[in-house]
Amino acid sequence: MTTAGNDTIDIAIHPSGAALGADVVGLDFNRPLSPETLQSINQAWTKHLVLRFRGMGKLSPEALIEFSRHFGELDMRPIATGSRSQFLEVDRPELTIISNVVIDGKPIGGLGAYEADWHADMTYVERPPKGSCLYAVELPSSGGNTYFSNMYMAYDTLDESIKKEIASLTCVHDASRNSAGELRRGFEEIDDPRKTIGPSHPLIRSHPVSGRKCLLLGRRRNAYINGYTLEDSERLLNMLWSHATQAKFTWAQEWQLGDMIMWDNRCTMHRRDSFDPSARRIMFRTQISGEPVVAA
Ligand code: SIN
Repeated sequence: MTTAGNDTIDIAIHPSGAALGADVVGLDFNRPLSPETLQSINQAWTKHLVLRFRGMGKLSPEALIEFSRHFGELDMRPIATGSRSQFLEVDRPELTIISNVVIDGKPIGGLGAYEADWHADMTYVERPPKGSCLYAVELPSSGGNTYFSNMYMAYDTLDESIKKEIASLTCVHDASRNSAGELRRGFEEIDDPRKTIGPSHPLIRSHPVSGRKCLLLGRRRNAYINGYTLEDSERLLNMLWSHATQAKFTWAQEWQLGDMIMWDNRCTMHRRDSFDPSARRIMFRTQISGEPVVAA
């Protein structure tokens, strides 16, 4: 590796050794990204699914947004999450805050301090996001780690009979709740997955960059396999979910201040540990727009 700057390919990729994840070492966020460096990051992202940039120091919302834009158009944060201008010097619609901190009685961000179950982001829309960048601004002394699971491996290791069974199946993804599990405006509580309202996606997706097959599960709650009895749908989904979230397919992001990670939402799922609600955790997040889901 050379350290001449981002105008040459000057980064090194250090795989985590687990099922996914790698550190990108040597990137200087204060310098423009050259096409060669960008290409190396994109290649590493396709190969390792989650990239970590450690020791980024203080990254401004603008720097995170500018970096994220290299990987596609950015989604605007949902209106419901409101403006965070009381907290941020720079309030940008491309930036979402994930935090349990409350100022003047109002949460400055989403998700609080509780555990977030395994999920892929926003599969309850027709074009779920391509990926996200998440940067640690403030961290609790323990807890709040984020785990990722490799959905290529989850697919590849299924029994051949299951691969055959799910080859042409689609699943309804519940649009009634947002990523934080809150009921969205205009939706009613559902207690029967057969009544779930939301888009149907194939259970096996073809990744638009790698062309590889991966499992697309999204979110367990109220998921329903079209054309199946409720019993058969539950049986198959329970099996797929417990298979896909086995420790051997996962990697843990144990956060340090200044870490920035980016994940590919098309071929991974993630979950987050809870943490002490009296501690503070503040993360900046951007989301890269996705493309239509294509069945494998
Ligand atoms: C999420 O996007 O599910 C939250 C990740 C985190 O807070 O670490």
